[in-house]
Amino acid sequence: MKIGVPKEIKNNENRVGMTPAGVFELVNQGHTVYVQSTAGEGSGFFDEVYQEAGAIILETIQDVYQSSDMIVKVKEPIQEEYDLIQPNQIVFTYFHFASSEALTLAMLKSNAVCIAYETVEDEDGTLPLLTPMSEVAGRMAIQQGAKYLEKPIKGRGILLGGVPGVTPGKVLILGAGVVGVQAAKMAAGLGAHVTIMDVNMKRLRYVNDIMPSHVVTEYSSVYNIKKHIQTHDLIIGGVLLKGGKAPKLITRAMLKDMRPGTVLVDVAVDQGGCMETTKATTHEDPTFIIDDIVHYCVANMPGAVPYTSTLALTNVTLPYVLKLANKGWEKACAEDASLAYGLNIVNGKIVYKEITEAFEWGVEYYA
Ligand SMILES: NC(=O)c1ccc[n+]([C@@H]2O[C@H](COP(=O)([O-])OP(=O)(O)OC[C@H]3O[C@@H](n4cnc5c(N)ncnc54)[C@H](O)[C@@H]3O)[C@@H](O)[C@H]2O)c1
Repeated sequence: MKIGVPKEIKNNENRVGMTPAGVFELVNQGHTVYVQSTAGEGSGFFDEVYQEAGAIILETIQDVYQSSDMIVKVKEPIQEEYDLIQPNQIVFTYFHFASSEALTLAMLKSNAVCIAYETVEDEDGTLPLLTPMSEVAGRMAIQQGAKYLEKPIKGRGILLGGVPGVTPGKVLILGAGVVGVQAAKMAAGLGAHVTIMDVNMKRLRYVNDIMPSHVVTEYSSVYNIKKHIQTHDLIIGGVLLKGGKAPKLITRAMLKDMRPGTVLVDVAVDQGGCMETTKATTHEDPTFIIDDIVHYCVANMPGAVPYTSTLALTNVTLPYVLKLANKGWEKACAEDASLAYGLNIVNGKIVYKEITEAFEWGVEYYA
């Protein structure tokens, strides 16, 4: 199969859909891989390294789309990319169709086969191609939170780990899922005191089993949250209700109960956020202050660490890319139920139920 790796053109997106290691694997298995010139530069992978791995470098994005049976990328196509997609081409990437009617209509029109990373689903209901980005964001939440606790950036002026003779900072984590556990791990490693909350007792038992004793678990309730926000320096939002908007666990009224300079990192911002005052920010201007409380609400946190994020993402996507390349999409999806969940749009029809529910359209688009 001919596989194309275009350069991401979405603003500030430095990740790339395939590393030289992925190219090497595909070429070894008899495939041809086209990589757009400079596609990997933002992640630290230069054209020469792709060439050494066996890729053919193409100059333009048009060349890549026109030459390939399958496109492997990171972000959902943006308007400039809609017309590049060829009929019957496999496009394997994040799509998030339910949040964009324009993209959904464009992909229906393209007659391509759209396989979405975010809906590939394992037997236990977990989303293997989303997990690594939550791992990155969870770990980054502490790195960012620790920075914004510094006084020059209007934080409380607290060193999270403390020093001998001075007590460490306190971190409150809402949600003990992937983001929450990774955040807890980082905060604990710095020596901070950590309180982590969830409504799922299985998650709290798991955290209690694996974490050191300065990470304490507590059931998530309004009462308990109100109590802890008064004493914790850094509060991380890592809550998710599958398929729904995040619940507002921190209300605007609660801000006055926090100490000035407390930092809120709402990782759940991409699902609307679990804090009432959350509004999405960017890496250029990541924070804002309301009532002396510092808010960090960047919706694509992994984008700031493209080297780590690209490797973390391609580690989990490559096995599926290989299956698609070796077997074609129909056989690969017939044999792999997890991958089949990724099928969203096939040759002008929506084949993933949740997308059909997102828009009020006629049945002509549904398979
Ligand atoms: N901003 C970013 O760049 C970025 C990156 C990756 C993930 N995210 C987002 O982070 C959020 C968390 O992702 P995840 O992978 O950790 O999800 P997850 O499903 O692994 O964990 C979510 C946890 O929230 C818990 N929860 C639900 N209701 C709760 C409540 N009332 N109180 C406390 N906990 C509650 C669930 O029981 C679950 O354990 C998602 O919205 C995800 O989209 C954002």
